[in-house]
Amino acid sequence: MAVFDWDFQPKLERRVVEDLFTLSCVECHEDVLITGKSGTGKSHILKALILKACEHELTVRYARCVDLVDDLYAGLADGSYPRRMKKWCRPSLLVIDDVGLGQLKRRDDEPTAAHMLFTLLDRRHHNATTGITSNIKLSAWGKYLGDATLAAAVLDRLAANSIHIDIDGPSYRQHLAHQRAKAHGLELPAQDTP
Ligand SMILES: Nc1ncnc2c1ncn2[C@@H]1O[C@H](COP(=O)(O)OP(=O)(O)OP(=O)(O)O)[C@@H](O)[C@H]1O
Ligand SMILES: [Mg+2]
Repeated sequence: MAVFDWDFQPKLERRVVEDLFTLSCVECHEDVLITGKSGTGKSHILKALILKACEHELTVRYARCVDLVDDLYAGLADGSYPRRMKKWCRPSLLVIDDVGLGQLKRRDDEPTAAHMLFTLLDRRHHNATTGITSNIKLSAWGKYLGDATLAAAVLDRLAANSIHIDIDGPSYRQHLAHQRAKAHGLELPAQDTP
């Protein structure tokens, strides 16, 4: 992760993040959960992990949570749900980005997003690595996914076999916006930088 500014996130344990790039987590089928506020580098880290896995010719797949759920819903419409689910189950590394961002579809006559994610995570659990980012509190997953019990079951599996990195720090996006504004002689409201 050559372009990551470690000094910008002093609370982030560099050793834990760098350890991800040894790919031992993928070898051991451990999941990776990265939480933290918007712009703190969660997707950056997991995208870098995808690149590293590609360098090692591992099978990878990436989707934002809403897009993954939409893909599975499309499968319900045309009967391809089992095939699509199998495809998401297969890669050695699957990254589900942005749990908590965007509106998930909800219909009473279909499985909830929580049901789909539970099935996916349960099938992959101990068989392959799933990397997840979320910028909402874990306690809010039930409401977001539409089923508190299944969301708890997903989190239970993650708790049992995952590396959890919580990035408690400022937004790099805001930092960039401030730098740009400064370069143009503009002033933005103060931000929370280290
Ligand atoms: N410490 C850092 N050093 C260099 N670039 C960074 C750092 N943290 C974040 N970035 C960059 O800032 C931008 C936002 O980071 P990223 O997309 O990873 O945020 P995020 O935590 O996933 O936010 P969100 O919750 O909104 O999805 C990206 O362009 C990323 O490459
Ligand atoms: Mg992100």
